Amino acid sequence: MEKPHLLAVFGYPVAHSRSPLIHAAFGQETGIALSYGKREARPGHFGAEVDKFVAEGALGFNITVPFKAEAFALAQQVTERARQAKAVNTMKVTADGELHGHNTDGDGLLADMTVNLGWKLSDSKILVVGAGGAVAGVIPSLLQANPSRIDICNRTISKAEAIAAQNPRTFAVGRESLLQGYDIVLNGTSAGLAGELPDLPATIFASHSCSYDMIYGDKTTSFNQWALDCGAAQAADGLGMLVEQAALAFEYWFETRPATAPVISMLRHG
Ligand code: ATR
Repeated sequence: MEKPHLLAVFGYPVAHSRSPLIHAAFGQETGIALSYGKREARPGHFGAEVDKFVAEGALGFNITVPFKAEAFALAQQVTERARQAKAVNTMKVTADGELHGHNTDGDGLLADMTVNLGWKLSDSKILVVGAGGAVAGVIPSLLQANPSRIDICNRTISKAEAIAAQNPRTFAVGRESLLQGYDIVLNGTSAGLAGELPDLPATIFASHSCSYDMIYGDKTTSFNQWALDCGAAQAADGLGMLVEQAALAFEYWFETRPATAPVISMLRHG
């Protein structure tokens, strides 16, 4: 029997990761034999753990929190998307042992919004809440869909300003200067993980607004519940983005793009 391709996700912590489940499903669907595990690397040990994995004959790996910037620094070559994000979430080990880095987070988000959810981003006004690494990485992909503007609002305004300075049609906006009724509101903060909501006026939503929360959970996220309570038309969580970024990673390794709908449905409904 053909030896399965060796893959894994690196993170700290990593026990909660759904990536092995998702890639196992993609492998089944495409008939590609793979063994996709979880590798926990303690901070300070990421590079050494990667070396070990490469020596075992790995084909590639994914990188999650907190190692995406370190992975970017480790790569010998990076794609345009990784360069823009200054972060790598997908690494390929080439035949001569080089590490080539890519970032599929932004295009995964874009695919979920435009293909799965059918949202129209062209000429839209987008509000992005938060200005951490997760947000910085997805802005170039959102811009590719030609929104009329992207406003970034963050508790710490200087971080929003830094992202805006690097991207066209992107503005750092204080709470008092927010528009009313954005077409799309994207929550990229980690506030929900602590059961908190960013401090924003309900007027950012109107009856046509769509809310997207980059985190996901078993039930409606607190941000999305708040958006719906404020009158937003639709709300989606980040499960679709998770599966789409994985499909793009799979394509980077195997040059074939697996179908995502059955996997999203499997994760959603168990
Ligand atoms: P990530 O890499 O996942 O983006 P991060 O870089 O730590 O993580 O960014 C977390 C984001 O969530 C930041 O925008 C942060 O705001 P600050 O830049 O002001 O720290 C935001 N955030 C976290 N908790 C928040 C809260 N309770 N209210 C509002 N914003 C919050």
